[in-house]
Amino acid sequence: MPEIGHIPPGCGSFGRLQRCSSSAYRCGYAFVVAPCIRDKTASNANWRYSEMSSIIEVEGLSKKFGDLIAVDDISFAVQAGEIFAFLGPNGAGKSTTIKMLTTLLDPTSGKIILNGKNPAVDADAVRHSFGIVFQDPSLDDELTAYENMEIHGVLYGVPKETRRARIPELLKFVELWSRKDDLVKEFSGGMKRRLEIARGLLHHPKVLFLDEPTIGLDPQTRNHMWNYIQNLNKTEGITVFFTTHYMEEADRVAGRIAVMDHGKIVASGTSAELKAKTNTDNLEDAFLALTGKTIRDEDASPLDRMRMRRRHWGGGR
Ligand SMILES: Nc1ncnc2c1ncn2[C@@H]1O[C@H](COP(=O)(O)OP(=O)(O)OP(=O)(O)O)[C@@H](O)[C@H]1O
Ligand SMILES: [Mg+2]
Repeated sequence: MPEIGHIPPGCGSFGRLQRCSSSAYRCGYAFVVAPCIRDKTASNANWRYSEMSSIIEVEGLSKKFGDLIAVDDISFAVQAGEIFAFLGPNGAGKSTTIKMLTTLLDPTSGKIILNGKNPAVDADAVRHSFGIVFQDPSLDDELTAYENMEIHGVLYGVPKETRRARIPELLKFVELWSRKDDLVKEFSGGMKRRLEIARGLLHHPKVLFLDEPTIGLDPQTRNHMWNYIQNLNKTEGITVFFTTHYMEEADRVAGRIAVMDHGKIVASGTSAELKAKTNTDNLEDAFLALTGKTIRDEDASPLDRMRMRRRHWGGGR
């Protein structure tokens, strides 16, 4: 593993993108893009870059909506094949970050590289690298499960023969094959969520973004869904980037976690590292120690408040 240099104090667990003098480690932006890992063999316990490849690289990313800074100068990297949790209270900036990573929003400033491509330059290539399950439902209720899959495949330019093979495979994978000809409006919340995951996988993405994929689902369905996703991660090597408000879910599933609050990443690391850092013995307590106990309703927009109320009263997504 080539050592490139020590990262200055203040570097988080994900490393920091650094200007690099070695052409072997220079990406299009002249930044070293590999995350750093702790060099366990080094007696001085400094950080150094690893040669592990990052599939998502974010440097100094910000998003403003008028005077509101929704995302405030965040930097992180996610390695290929990781399951990475992005946690934070309501209004922290998680969905806004995901929207920037997935070309739905233009950053106010900062750099993103996804699967080696810059969304600002090559949005189409970036779009083909990921699948997404949005926080808010995005299926067409008036179409059948199969038709929702088919339309997505056509929009993404998946060839007909591939669609014919892949759609049944995925609908079987999420156990909806027997309901393929039923209208989505007749589906339960869990079935819709499973269909959205299947749809997000149709074009063989390298990265799957899941923005609160399990909200409003019963424990059985949540459990089932994470089994699918972990299985996918293992068998197809898909990188998973997800948000959730269920801390036990993040604890169980995520390899690494970033905690965001008021637009900033306030801590990052494995669940064990976050617990150690906050001197707590479960992730929920670690999360509360990092982000405080104040309810964020007062910070929320009317839309956020409506979502929160819907969640609270079980209206789901
Ligand atoms: N299109 C928009 N216009 C104006 N403000 C927005 C817009 N989208 C998000 N915001 C604001 O940006 C902030 C971050 O919102 P975001 O949806 O990213 O939060 P979040 O972390 O995903 O929260 P939640 O857990 O409730 O989903 C909030 O204050 C929100 O009101
Ligand atoms: Mg959100």
